[in-house]
Amino acid sequence: MGFTGDFFITSTRSVNFPILFPPQCGNSKRGRHLEERALGKPRSKHGFSSCENLHFIFIGRVEKYRPQTLGDLISHEDILNTIQKFISEDRLPHLLLYGPPGTGKTSTILACAKQLYTGREFSSMVLELNASDDRGIDIVRGPILNFSSTRTIFKRGFKLVILDEADAMTQDAQNALRRVIEKFTENTRFCLICNYLSKIIPALQSRCTRFRFGPLTPELMVPRLKHVIEKENVDVSDDGMKALVTLSNGDMRRSLNILQSTYMAFGQVTEETVYTCTGQPLKSDIANILDWMLNLDFSSAYRNIMELKTLKGLALQDILTEIHLFVHRVDFPTSVRIQLLIKMADVEHRLATGTNEKIQLGSLVAAFQVTRDLIVAEA
Ligand SMILES: Nc1ncnc2c1ncn2[C@@H]1O[C@H](COP(=O)(O)OP(=O)(O)OP(=O)(O)O)[C@@H](O)[C@H]1O
Ligand SMILES: [Mg+2]
Repeated sequence: MGFTGDFFITSTRSVNFPILFPPQCGNSKRGRHLEERALGKPRSKHGFSSCENLHFIFIGRVEKYRPQTLGDLISHEDILNTIQKFISEDRLPHLLLYGPPGTGKTSTILACAKQLYTGREFSSMVLELNASDDRGIDIVRGPILNFSSTRTIFKRGFKLVILDEADAMTQDAQNALRRVIEKFTENTRFCLICNYLSKIIPALQSRCTRFRFGPLTPELMVPRLKHVIEKENVDVSDDGMKALVTLSNGDMRRSLNILQSTYMAFGQVTEETVYTCTGQPLKSDIANILDWMLNLDFSSAYRNIMELKTLKGLALQDILTEIHLFVHRVDFPTSVRIQLLIKMADVEHRLATGTNEKIQLGSLVAAFQVTRDLIVAEA
């Protein structure tokens, strides 16, 4: 252990690996399969090798394009300007950054830390804890207290404690942190980062200046994706780019993951390859499913959908989400639409509680059959 310039050994820095799940690791068996084939991975006895092995490959790419300075971040201009102003006036308050995943929270505070401290100072002035570290009260009483209560002899100014994924901290740990934050404000600034603000106790919230990192807009994501595509020399069509942005729902990390996995599996990124790789139903699949449910008898519709689901490894949840958008667009009488939407919401709720997909598919097809009868009755 080297001399850190502290009176005590304070830093227990850990490497920050964001917990990252490639989109394929969720519902889509086909996506995983294709990806493993592209990577030449041996298949497990269940037919698929584990997601964990893929992590490191994906982390590499996403980490490569992690913004290094505040200027590299593509969004939340107001927040970044405010933080930049705090830093330049040397009045950085305690921060609480919250919002959905992949929106730049960790990148922002790491960029701030890099701006505040030189490479050599970093390890003695910054304590970074994330979900891979213990989140109980001991971490507050031990490393955090030690780090905050000591001063460095070579560097004036405050130290920075970054508590990433702070919503995973226990209530006891959060309560213990209240006092530590107050007591060592002179010496240390805290930055709490979380996805769910409601999991941070109000007392901690009130000690910090809060910034919400909302999902990124397509207008911001497209230029950044184009930048990565250019650097990596990847073949991406216009509709492929649109699919990347649509499926990532404002999560930049997710869009980079999908880009990489699709490219690795298919060599080119088009709407079709993106949807296939992530196991999302294609628009044409959804059109077919709707057509079957609205025009065929119950058994044929159920059988066709079941076959398509098995062939493409689609999840009923994804089908339901897409169909829901269509239902709003199809010209149903309002009362019929309402009934259908209520039934679809019930199916979604039951699916979320872990019920049998086959039975729920039956329920969905049945809901459409009832809708057809209602339309006929209303006509
Ligand atoms: N605003 C942004 N500008 C540029 N790249 C971004 C931005 N937000 C996210 N990214 C990309 O996504 C990756 C993950 O970002 P980051 O770790 O900052 O997200 P996060 O908000 O901390 O997510 P989580 O809540 O899951 O920890 C980065 O490495 C970067 O490639
Ligand atoms: Mg993060």
